[in-house]
Amino acid sequence: GGSKSQWQFCMKKYNILFVLICLPVPSAPPQLSIASTSPTDIRLMWHPLSSQHSRGAVTSYRIEYSSLDNVDTVFSVEVGGNETQFTLRELQPNQAYRLRIAAGTGVGFGVPSEWAQHQTLAHYNHTSHLMFAPTELKVRAQVSTLNITWQPSPNHTVVSGYKLSCREVDADVEKMTQTHLVRLRKKARYHLLTGLVPDHLYEVRVWAFNKQADGSAAVWKGRTEKATSSLPMRPPPLPPSSIQAAANSSTSIRLRWEKPRFSTVRIINYTVRCSPAGTTNASLVTYHTSAAQEILIGALKPFTRYELAVQSNGMDAVGPFSGTVEESTFADRPSSAPQELRLSTINSSSVLVSWRPPLEPNGVIVGYRILFSSNLSQPEHTWRNLSQDGSITNVEVRGLTSGTHYFFKLGASTEVGAGPYSLIKDIQTPPDQYELDIHAVTGIIVGVCLGLICMLLCMCFSFRNTKTR
Ligand SMILES: *[C@@H]1O[C@H](CO)[C@@H](O)[C@H](O)[C@H]1NC(C)=O
Ligand SMILES: *[C@@H]1O[C@H](CO)[C@@H](O)[C@H](O)[C@H]1NC(C)=O
Ligand SMILES: *[C@@H]1O[C@H](CO)[C@@H](O)[C@H](O)[C@H]1NC(C)=O
Ligand SMILES: *[C@@H]1O[C@H](CO)[C@@H](O)[C@H](O)[C@H]1NC(C)=O
Ligand SMILES: *[C@@H]1O[C@H](CO)[C@@H](O)[C@H](O)[C@H]1NC(C)=O
Ligand SMILES: *[C@@H]1O[C@H](CO)[C@@H](O)[C@H](O)[C@H]1NC(C)=O
Ligand SMILES: *[C@@H]1O[C@H](CO)[C@@H](O)[C@H](O)[C@H]1NC(C)=O
Ligand SMILES: *[C@@H]1O[C@H](CO)[C@@H](O)[C@H](O)[C@H]1NC(C)=O
Ligand SMILES: *[C@@H]1O[C@H](CO)[C@@H](O)[C@H](O)[C@H]1NC(C)=O
Ligand SMILES: *[C@@H]1O[C@H](CO)[C@@H](O)[C@H](O)[C@H]1NC(C)=O
Repeated sequence: GGSKSQWQFCMKKYNILFVLICLPVPSAPPQLSIASTSPTDIRLMWHPLSSQHSRGAVTSYRIEYSSLDNVDTVFSVEVGGNETQFTLRELQPNQAYRLRIAAGTGVGFGVPSEWAQHQTLAHYNHTSHLMFAPTELKVRAQVSTLNITWQPSPNHTVVSGYKLSCREVDADVEKMTQTHLVRLRKKARYHLLTGLVPDHLYEVRVWAFNKQADGSAAVWKGRTEKATSSLPMRPPPLPPSSIQAAANSSTSIRLRWEKPRFSTVRIINYTVRCSPAGTTNASLVTYHTSAAQEILIGALKPFTRYELAVQSNGMDAVGPFSGTVEESTFADRPSSAPQELRLSTINSSSVLVSWRPPLEPNGVIVGYRILFSSNLSQPEHTWRNLSQDGSITNVEVRGLTSGTHYFFKLGASTEVGAGPYSLIKDIQTPPDQYELDIHAVTGIIVGVCLGLICMLLCMCFSFRNTKTR
């Protein structure tokens, strides 16, 4: 279907409705080459427009011309969109004409080219007309190059070679600057002129020659492209595909990706965005640049899930970020000790030890080790130790000596290894009450015994008294 696009701007504030319809007609005209083969002919040749300039399929070209003597009477011819040359016939010999061309899509014609002037031959000039001009002279203009192509002149059997001239035309004064002349082989069908100035007007002529004479020339006049105009039109590059993240250590993740599958823009480097999964704190987001298709991101936290995304950077455009991939760094040994170590006595031989898990466990805590000793200056490996499951946060240490000063410390371990020990805390077990009790029991036993002896003595006396009566 027709690719009409419309933009409407409603200016309700002023009760005015502006409807602006922008129709996609070609944005540039074709560039014309002109040659004469006879005093009554002018041959026009051009290249089809690039799709960027045609903005749709070109369905026809309109050629307009008038004699310079009567510029108000403009004749116009339309030719099919598949044509790239046309010959105007039955013109006046030795007459200056001006000509221009416009390309049209189904919607309408684009801007016409600037008027080009051409003088028809006065008569069949026997030196120059011995060889016709090359046919289909066409020039593809770019920012700093002109690629000039042609087909042989009809007299190609007597041709020794071709000559090509190029000169810069000052658009204001049309003053001639230095001309560049090239001789080319008979079989040459194109020539590339390089090192030209962007957005300058040039005139190119191509003609055949042999030992006797030069043939008539085909002429092209047109501009090189603007250097900047094409750059902002480049779309930004697509994000890379097949992004794969793999933890390399407890503090690093390696990320690999592939170039975007469909991208016309050259990618200079890539930007990687990295943040802890689910964070909303912008200061935790980091950015890394890589010119290669991989990166090793370091300085990460152990046992932490990260979200990563990659963006392609073109020369002057930055593409959007890809979807995120997630990866966790490996676990590590705890980097801090358990917190809030507390000691309390239960009785003379037992102490209750309690604590809270470390702030930076760097993994799942699989166990705690409690070290204790009554002699602080003894080496660590001689301290008594007690291992506890990682899910427990208090334990009773039994079998201690009463009335003794004990020192405790505590460390946590993950499956990777043990972390640091906490600071040492100390506690004094109460003295044993047992020996004091023995004195009391002895007193009670002695008392009871004395009581029993008194009772026995009393019973003996009373027994004798009854016997003597
Ligand atoms: C262009 O198309 C017309 C009609 O389809 C055809 O007659 C003509 O030969 C074509 N010209 C070229 C150069 O293909
Ligand atoms: C024929 O053309 C050449 C240049 O193409 C010119 O120098 C010469 O004067 C012309 N001769 C006549 C008789 O017009
Ligand atoms: C070139 O071709 C034309 C027409 O075919 C002919 O009149 C002319 O003599 C030819 N010139 C030469 C040098 O053969
Ligand atoms: C110039 O055009 C010719 C013929 O179309 C082509 O073979 C050649 O590759 C072109 N050169 C450049 C640099 O575009
Ligand atoms: C980490 O990267 C190094 C090379 O940079 C590699 O030799 C090593 O195997 C990687 N380790 C893992 C676990 O992927
Ligand atoms: C964001 O992270 C920074 C650095 O870790 C921290 O200083 C800051 O308090 C955090 N802000 C919030 C709102 O969590
Ligand atoms: C990445 O490319 C941009 C240009 O797109 C450039 O400005 C930047 O310096 C490059 N960064 C690195 C680290 O190469
Ligand atoms: C101290 O208390 C523990 C249990 O809390 C008990 O097993 C132990 O026998 C007690 N020891 C003494 C001397 O009372
Ligand atoms: C404590 O241990 C050190 C070193 O093992 C030893 O020299 C010292 O005598 C011990 N002190 C007591 C009171 O046992
Ligand atoms: C823990 O104590 C046992 C004996 O009580 C000993 O064999 C072991 O080496 C100790 N472990 C550490 C880490 O001190």
